[in-house]
Amino acid sequence: MTYSILILNGPNLNLLGTRQPEVYGSTTLANIEATCSAKAEQLGVSLTFAQSNHEGELVDMIHAARGQHAGVILNAGAYTHTSIALMDAISSTMIPVVELHLSNIHAREEFRKISYIARVAVGQICGFGAAGYPLAMEALVSHLEATK
Ligand code: DQA
Repeated sequence: MTYSILILNGPNLNLLGTRQPEVYGSTTLANIEATCSAKAEQLGVSLTFAQSNHEGELVDMIHAARGQHAGVILNAGAYTHTSIALMDAISSTMIPVVELHLSNIHAREEFRKISYIARVAVGQICGFGAAGYPLAMEALVSHLEATK
């Protein structure tokens, strides 16, 4: 069975590589996309990779994912901690979502420990830097296999 997976990146993640490398590492989003494409081939899934700095656009992309993708890997950036709209988009579409963060959000500022995404996600991967992306792909595929 081949799955179509959407990896969705939120605000400021287009700046990866130069953005606070001590927190987020020096890998660019283009590097991450290349790693994910290789992982997709290995897993036998098809991959769409996207980024937006706009909350409503991210909501639209989650809506559009329904029927098009089997699941979503979402690094919602700072919207993780603020966006009831993104949380509602996920519960409205019922699409399986793996929440992802490069940094360990639980070991940082108090406000980062709150995730609206976590309430509606299958699970969360955080703290492994760019390596979290292929890990999240494995986690999502294993979830899809287990629930098909
Ligand atoms: C992040 C963590 C968020 O708290 C932050 O606002 C980001 C990136 C991460 O990948 O570690 O933009 O989602």
